[in-house]
Amino acid sequence: MKVNFDKIINRAETDCAKWETVMSETNSFVHERSGRFFGENASIPMWIADMDFPAPKEVVDALTARAKHGIYGYTESSLTYGPAVANWMKTRHGWDIHPEWIVTTPGIVPALAMLARAFVGAGEKVIIQPPVYYPFKSVLDFNEVEIAENQLINENGRYRMDFDDLERKARDPQTKMLILCNPHNPIGLVWARDELSRVAEICRANDVLVISDEIHADLTFQPFTPFGTIDANVIVCTAASKTFNLAGLATSNIIIPNASLREKFQTYLLRHALVDAGIFGSLATETAYTHGAYWLDQLLAYLSDTLDFMEKYFAKHMPQIRMIRPEGTYLVWLDCRALNMDAPSLHRFFSDRARVYLEQGAIFGTGGEGFLRMNIATPRKVVKEALRRMREAMDNVQ
Ligand SMILES: Cc1ncc(COP(=O)(O)O)c(C=O)c1O
Repeated sequence: MKVNFDKIINRAETDCAKWETVMSETNSFVHERSGRFFGENASIPMWIADMDFPAPKEVVDALTARAKHGIYGYTESSLTYGPAVANWMKTRHGWDIHPEWIVTTPGIVPALAMLARAFVGAGEKVIIQPPVYYPFKSVLDFNEVEIAENQLINENGRYRMDFDDLERKARDPQTKMLILCNPHNPIGLVWARDELSRVAEICRANDVLVISDEIHADLTFQPFTPFGTIDANVIVCTAASKTFNLAGLATSNIIIPNASLREKFQTYLLRHALVDAGIFGSLATETAYTHGAYWLDQLLAYLSDTLDFMEKYFAKHMPQIRMIRPEGTYLVWLDCRALNMDAPSLHRFFSDRARVYLEQGAIFGTGGEGFLRMNIATPRKVVKEALRRMREAMDNVQ
């Protein structure tokens, strides 16, 4: 079945974060029913990571049929849920998992907070690798966990890990955990097997538990290596939410091969009575994993064509901005340092003058200043209009 990703769908009045709220200066969401993103002179929101595409038809049909049933009482996870997740991991990524390794949580960010509480004690440290998805830092801050930053090295647009620094930080006896982002948001890198093997080696030698956030694993333009195929002593955070645009259904699968780590996490969840998955989230996840592969293949081809277009457009019309083409994710990391603007001015320039609302690079932490992140998971016509506006705004100041 051919999917039409070109169709523009109005998301007004659906309480969607991307089109109806904005991130305030203090990093909280502010509802903006004021019409900033709708109507005449509206901005184009290309910030928070969800897509303007509807989920696969099979998912919509399954949810509609279930909704029409009308009874939404207490629900058990279906017997086919775990096998569907396992089958996806095997066929899509070559990772053999057992259904009993899966612990379902209402999202990965909540899982990260709970993992930090379950596995890291007072005064202990967690390594993160900025610039990185900003909730890594905020969940650790909220839980009063100390952060050790292992900053990524940007070598002429190509990022790599600083293994010497990682080793130094891992050797600190207070360091208990590393939160790895693979593929890495916001830089779009898919870590290579040898890089992940080195991470595994360092962490194992120093008794540092690896949490591998693989939420973007399906959205890759080159082969992806699940951390679990390198080292089974890992906690892997996965979901169908990013892949199939189901984030509002708040369902993720935390895959924990090691029985004692799993038991420790499950005990933590039980202690907080966090054990029931919602009806719709698990149904959508299972349906997407069972019937959605064709849809994802077409999505990746569509995004790849958009990236081809963007690459040429930036090179030709906005060479001052360096587009770092993602190997994974639908998020494009734009190096705007040549524009010489501080972080707030850079964001304001594009949101006010171009009416394109991008994510500020600086919120991803150290190394993010001077960058912007652009979410391109929207019909190509919208991407083209955003680029046209950005170019016009830049032309007008030169
Ligand atoms: C790396 C990463 N982890 C987690 C999330 C969000 O996960 P959830 O919606 O399941 O909390 C995102 C969303 O953009 C992300 O980029």
